[in-house]
Amino acid sequence: MKILAIETSCDETAIAILECEGTEENARFTVLGNTLLSQVETHREYGGVFPMLAKREHAKNLVPILESTLEEAELLREDTQAIPEEMRIEIAKFLAREPGLAEAFFAFVSECEPPEIDAIAVTTGPGLEPALWVGINFAKALARLWGKPLIAINHMEGHILSALVSRREEQEAVLEIKDTRLPVLALLISGGHTELVLMKKWLTYELIGQTRDDAVGEAYDKVARMLSLPYPGGPEISRLAEQARAAYDQTAGFGSGNTPLGLRLPRPMLHDANCDFSFAGLKTAVLYLLKNNILMDSRPSQDKNISEEDKADIALEFENAVADVLWKKTARALEETGAYTLLIGGGVSANTHIRRTFTEKMQGDYPGVTLRIPPASLTGDNAIMIGIAGFYRALRTDLPPTDPITANGNRSLA
Ligand code: KG4
Ligand code: ZN
Repeated sequence: MKILAIETSCDETAIAILECEGTEENARFTVLGNTLLSQVETHREYGGVFPMLAKREHAKNLVPILESTLEEAELLREDTQAIPEEMRIEIAKFLAREPGLAEAFFAFVSECEPPEIDAIAVTTGPGLEPALWVGINFAKALARLWGKPLIAINHMEGHILSALVSRREEQEAVLEIKDTRLPVLALLISGGHTELVLMKKWLTYELIGQTRDDAVGEAYDKVARMLSLPYPGGPEISRLAEQARAAYDQTAGFGSGNTPLGLRLPRPMLHDANCDFSFAGLKTAVLYLLKNNILMDSRPSQDKNISEEDKADIALEFENAVADVLWKKTARALEETGAYTLLIGGGVSANTHIRRTFTEKMQGDYPGVTLRIPPASLTGDNAIMIGIAGFYRALRTDLPPTDPITANGNRSLA
């Protein structure tokens, strides 16, 4: 079946069209079209995602992205379509909240044939509600117009399932999920989430542990801001930390464990007998470090007194602390659950040091457990993961349909 997937939960506007085949145990996805428009530049001057701006950008981008994705998938057939007045009024209501969206929508759809797709999948949460609503209403308008079923997708389920894919060699567009041994333990690390989730049966989730305060991506972004690094901070911290790591390994020998400047940041809840996390204390420790030791004027937002080397040293120790905690808690969860597969999903799974740490530790300590990490192109938010989850949901006719489809910023998996 062909699924058109829409993702607008945060600051990426994305649409993908996937040809999906197979079963839960042996699924195969051919990416027919995929467009992702990042709003990073728009939000940079605010130092974070500004929900109302995100929503406006989604509304502006959705029609052009739909057109280019259909075109890439070779599903765009130009033809004048008459839209019955009653349907037009109904659809206009879905789109009325975004200025200009209904006009752009009708201008496009009245000139193209309904494409040969079987269903539309859309993210309904978690995420920023104003942003989610734009995608949901757009999906509802398309589903009504083209008479296609609409599938509500949990964004985190998209991160989980897309972390299980492997690419076919020399077939860039083909993604497969196969040889997955359940139970699967998922470490989800993103801007809004840090949690350990167990999947004993497909699409059934049990929360094993979660952050009690900040998400790990949020901690990365906040520490980056303290160091006056541009938004989004995760990749910036990672880049500086890698630089420092290479420099220390060169002078002290690889894996010497030397900490720069005698810097030591806390590893919150490392030894607590549970699988929960806390990152607020780590972030505050960086703030105090900047106030007391490095910045003369105690205003961390002003970086005039902090050298690039100091920033890199802090980034390195911060990242080491994060990886230590993530690993220790995940190892505990592996022991407790007896999972056969571990996956890491969410935007922070792009992090080089976390990927490396987990790869090494898993080989050394849990050689019998399979580690799955998403390909780099699928770590951040995208619509391919929503299409994949859409297929898994479509396979399950036993699950009740989600009706009505609404946005929920805090939607949970379990
Ligand atoms: O999953 P995602 O794209 O959006 C959410 O659903 O939150 O995750 C975004 C988060 C941001 O906090 C960003 O700074 C972080 O992922 N991130 C990284 C890296 N790339 C993105 N954090 C650490 N290292 C990276 N390389
Ligand atoms: Zn995400």
